[in-house]
Amino acid sequence: MDAVDRPIGIFDSGFGGLSVARVIRARLPQENFIYAADCGHAPWGTRPDDYVRRRAEHLAHFLLSQNVKAIVVACHTASAVVGDDLAAQLPVPVIRIAPPVREALAASRVHCIGVMATSKTVTSKSYLQIKSEALSSYPNARIVDQGCPGLMECVERGELNTPATRNLIRRYLMPILEAGADRIVLGCTHYPFLTEILRQEIGNGVEIIDPAPIAAESLHRVLTEKRLFNSTAAAGRTIFYVDDLNPQRQHVLSALISREANARKLP
Ligand code: DGL
Repeated sequence: MDAVDRPIGIFDSGFGGLSVARVIRARLPQENFIYAADCGHAPWGTRPDDYVRRRAEHLAHFLLSQNVKAIVVACHTASAVVGDDLAAQLPVPVIRIAPPVREALAASRVHCIGVMATSKTVTSKSYLQIKSEALSSYPNARIVDQGCPGLMECVERGELNTPATRNLIRRYLMPILEAGADRIVLGCTHYPFLTEILRQEIGNGVEIIDPAPIAAESLHRVLTEKRLFNSTAAAGRTIFYVDDLNPQRQHVLSALISREANARKLP
């Protein structure tokens, strides 16, 4: 296989990273992808740092064994925990997703935003750094951090619009809406799959920000700089690997990304 025809690896603790994969695939339709989901070891957002680090390294090394030319960490929790360490270890470019706090503050008319993410992300050093950099440009702004335990599990179970999911969302939105935020950053890659219910609950005047397009642009930029674009004109394909694969997982994968997505078991 020609160097540029090699696939791009994308991983997450589970199916959340598919919300990033769908945006990347639309941006780079000629590329091949391998998506790895660690469903059997999820959630990562409530686990110790060491656990998240080990699982992220495991998935990254699996992707490397598949000869990928770049890796996208489509998980805010892993991105926050591993920081730049993974990129320093790996022989291929690594793109990490992160909550675009500064961009959200710049767009906010009221200088107040909410960030929904895992408890691990909102308490991580990496996120606190992102926040303090953003606040140095907008010193009077307010950022309402909201850890959302239990929400990724709703997506993993394919429960995108059930009363239980809606109740959780209402509970997590309350402090953000009470503070008067007009932008909500989805700082966990599972949450874009809940956009419909989120929109219904927030009403007009509040915008939801999905960081996936920024990650897609970063990947595009890296491929350009490193001259790694796939040169073939044909449409690329994606192979899905799921840890702990079973019929229910296959069902949720198909519902979230495409009926044609046939998963293989993650070794
Ligand atoms: N999708 C993940 C994120 O973006 C993690 C969810 C979890 O495993 O807790 O943070």
